[in-house]
Amino acid sequence: MKNKITVSAPGKLMLFGEHAVIYGKPCIVTAVDQRIRVRVEKIGGSSITVNAPEVKVKDYSLKISDLGKIEYPKEIKFVLKAVENFFKKYQVKSGLNLETKSGFSSLFGFGSSSAVTVSTIKALSEIFDIEVGNKLLFDICYKTVLEVQGVGSGFDLAAAIWGGTIYFVGGGKKILPLKTKELPLVVGYTGIKADTATLVRKVAGLHKNNKKKVDEIFDSIEKLVRAAKIALENTDYPKLGELMDENQKLLYKLSVSTPELDNLIGSARQTGAFGAKLSGAGGGDCMIALADKSKTAKVKKAIEKSGGVVLDVKFNAEGVRIEK
Ligand code: MEV
Repeated sequence: MKNKITVSAPGKLMLFGEHAVIYGKPCIVTAVDQRIRVRVEKIGGSSITVNAPEVKVKDYSLKISDLGKIEYPKEIKFVLKAVENFFKKYQVKSGLNLETKSGFSSLFGFGSSSAVTVSTIKALSEIFDIEVGNKLLFDICYKTVLEVQGVGSGFDLAAAIWGGTIYFVGGGKKILPLKTKELPLVVGYTGIKADTATLVRKVAGLHKNNKKKVDEIFDSIEKLVRAAKIALENTDYPKLGELMDENQKLLYKLSVSTPELDNLIGSARQTGAFGAKLSGAGGGDCMIALADKSKTAKVKKAIEKSGGVVLDVKFNAEGVRIEK
């Protein structure tokens, strides 16, 4: 049995189906090569100590007996909730040292909370020698995330666990790894940090006040996500681009796009991208454009000229793994 281990998990980018996935519809997500690492060490005593330099947490310590009883610092809530849930589920306990290390800024909406939750639970299962398969890992992580943030479909956890590109149905009802080749995507960051929970609540408000219309939008999104799955498997970029544009129109109707996102999306399209859309909750964060390799440089330049920051990310990244 190991006493210490480092586990890493990738971030994600939503390709199709955001928001509707919260209402039980499918989405398509890809894992990105920006990873979060969690190092866990079993120690004697009855304290749990967390270091998370990226969020400026240094030597935060609590007693095992305080787990579930005190308010955790918001920067490391996911890590501590994950430990609490793991100890409770498997009736184990031990003093621990935990350290997180992020390969990307939590500003970009790449899913740092999901990657850190997955890495923590996976690391604990290894050092306590408890076999936890992918679906069970998903279920424990999903419970943890819902307890911390209240909302979420779990698509980001699936990307962190399985990696690659996934067809995912809200709540994990279906998790289907897709066979995809290279994805010639460009990612542009608006410079605006968005809060997913706020945007999810905004859509919930719209849905409550205008159920029929919003349900129709969700149904249209479902249809296009299914078509996108086929287009992805056939590497049909023109069709994928068309579906991205269609998805963006529907997200616009849900009032989650912003002038900054519209601007970056418009400039990508004008320079010959197959299609472009926001990615994630909206309200800022990132947009994605699908462009032929011969046009990538032009599209990137146009995004930058319009005030965006082009992020260099690779897709279809490997899921959770134990680091040497
Ligand atoms: C956020 O990246 C995507 C949403 O659909 C939220 C979720 O699925 O958890 C808005």
